[in-house]
Amino acid sequence: MQGVSRVLIDGVPDTAVPVTDRAFQYGDGLFETIRLVAGQLSLWRLHRERLESGARTLGIPLDLQCVEQHCAVLTQGIAAGVVRITVSRGDSLRGYAPLADAHPRIVCALYPAAAPDPRPYVQGVRVRLCDTRLAEQPRLAGLKHLNRLEQVLARQEWSTSEFAEGLMLDVAGRLIEGTFTNVFLVLDDRICTPRLDRCGVAGVMRRYLLEQRPGMDGHTVSECDLWPRDIEAARECFVTNSLIGIWPVHTIVIDGAARQLTGVTMGRQISAEVERRLGFTNSN
Ligand SMILES: Cc1ncc(COP(=O)(O)O)c(C=O)c1O
Repeated sequence: MQGVSRVLIDGVPDTAVPVTDRAFQYGDGLFETIRLVAGQLSLWRLHRERLESGARTLGIPLDLQCVEQHCAVLTQGIAAGVVRITVSRGDSLRGYAPLADAHPRIVCALYPAAAPDPRPYVQGVRVRLCDTRLAEQPRLAGLKHLNRLEQVLARQEWSTSEFAEGLMLDVAGRLIEGTFTNVFLVLDDRICTPRLDRCGVAGVMRRYLLEQRPGMDGHTVSECDLWPRDIEAARECFVTNSLIGIWPVHTIVIDGAARQLTGVTMGRQISAEVERRLGFTNSN
């Protein structure tokens, strides 16, 4: 299969999922996308915890040890790359009700590492504010579930390389996240990231920053309600995910008007510290 180096379905080399699979039918499942660095799954504990809590919320009886075993086989002898774990509730007939004896299906796929590009980390990136809004669904908020149609719609709002990412608001107008990243604003000596209790994906890199505070000396970091006016007031902005690490943002385009941020110093500092600890610009 193009672009994929290896795939295991329930631990066996295979690339075909049946049409009865509920991930195919309803998006009934979860996924994780993880960097493989020096043969290790980077930030695995945090990915594992999100997968475990997502499976608990959806009521999918997932065996995490099985997932770990399949990943170990998948990555054997490989130093660097990207691992995607997709967990589906398994097969069922038509209709939303799951079968009582459904067995989750675990798909582990290995992709090659992207070519290193230090530019976004050093220069920062240009992003836009998307028109597509995120719906509120507290029961699914934070989960990395397989229904990503809002992101698919938002990502079709631009097609050139002019923008590296699009930021998204919820239906009430609060800033929530990027289409494939979480977002942080630097407001004076406070670093704020949107609360994700109504919608949004609780990113592993976001959690790492909130807990470990790399390169954030002299600043507090917290979850807040943020609005477009906070983007206007922000000194800096940066976006994060577990594959890219941290990209400082130098420009945000809102309704066609470009707002230049004062600088990228803090974002660059945090990015460099995360790079030092986890190794991002060189091999991501
Ligand atoms: C919608 C969305 N938000 C946030 C993130 C960041 O998550 P993580 O840090 O776990 O990669 C992602 C990652 O793909 C995403 O798709």
